[in-house]
Amino acid sequence: PRPIILSTDPGIDDSIAILLALASPELALKAVCIDFGSLANLTQLEHNALAVLALGGGASVPVYRGAAAPLAAPFHDLGGPLFHGKDGVGGVPPPALPSHGVNLTLSGAEAIVEACRTWRPAPVLVSLAPLTNLALALALEPRLPQLCPDVYVMGGTLAAPGNVSPLAEANLANDAEAAQRVFDAGFALRVAGLDVTMATWLDQSYLDSLRSLPNAAGPWVWNMTRFYTRAYRNNGYRGGMPLHDPSALLMLLRPDIYSMKRWTATVDTTPYPSPTRGLVIADRRGGPLSPPSNSSTQFAMDVDVHAVQLFLRERLSRSP
Ligand code: BDR
Repeated sequence: PRPIILSTDPGIDDSIAILLALASPELALKAVCIDFGSLANLTQLEHNALAVLALGGGASVPVYRGAAAPLAAPFHDLGGPLFHGKDGVGGVPPPALPSHGVNLTLSGAEAIVEACRTWRPAPVLVSLAPLTNLALALALEPRLPQLCPDVYVMGGTLAAPGNVSPLAEANLANDAEAAQRVFDAGFALRVAGLDVTMATWLDQSYLDSLRSLPNAAGPWVWNMTRFYTRAYRNNGYRGGMPLHDPSALLMLLRPDIYSMKRWTATVDTTPYPSPTRGLVIADRRGGPLSPPSNSSTQFAMDVDVHAVQLFLRERLSRSP
């Protein structure tokens, strides 16, 4: 199995991603680094991560405290609690108790750097939150893109509308400076933005089918997502929910069901409240107007939604 490190702000869809990682034999979830994002309350986010890990059979996976605020700009609540609830899990705590506490010997960024320097094979870094932990790790170790090239990100959007502004997606807008540093660093980035995550719509009948999985995880996911689907409905969407954070892992687990495009890209850092803050600027011109892209950044632009649905349910059914 490939070792992975998750940087996450759990979070309803982050929690599903943690369960997916634990239920996937191709991956070995080796560490979880908490980042502010859906909430600014790191203690709550840490508790959520530890409890979801306990639920999914990952009670021994270490959880590190990461970034509590953006790198260079003040934190603005961009609506996380509206979608995830004040506790991050829609008022439905995981039905498992953490068996240990946060590992405070290293920060999230230090844990990433140490792993990238010493583990072989190097871990795949998967970011389901603002990119602050990764940017801090990059500041500690500028060779990070050589040591740990593979980085999978949920964030941004190209053709689809933004979700926290007309143009920007929450994870990148929440810390645009961090996102810019990570996009510019030379990692082999694979990005699942709103182009594919909004398209990966799980309707209510699909979510109801998780309720009858023969384990504790399925019914809990169903119950927790009731808050999330209500939030989307209140914002004018049809019943159900998009699949954001698990999509970053799904690109890694099932590259066959995503169409990727390679473009040179950076991230706009115009200060809040500019609608361009966190916007992905990708050179999609092609042809004679722009040089051929030698970028190491790939964007998921299309996905086989039915394949995702079958795969996710099958994986969640493996949870303890
Ligand atoms: C992202 O924002 C968060 O609310 C979700 O957990 C996801 O990481 C989607 O824009």
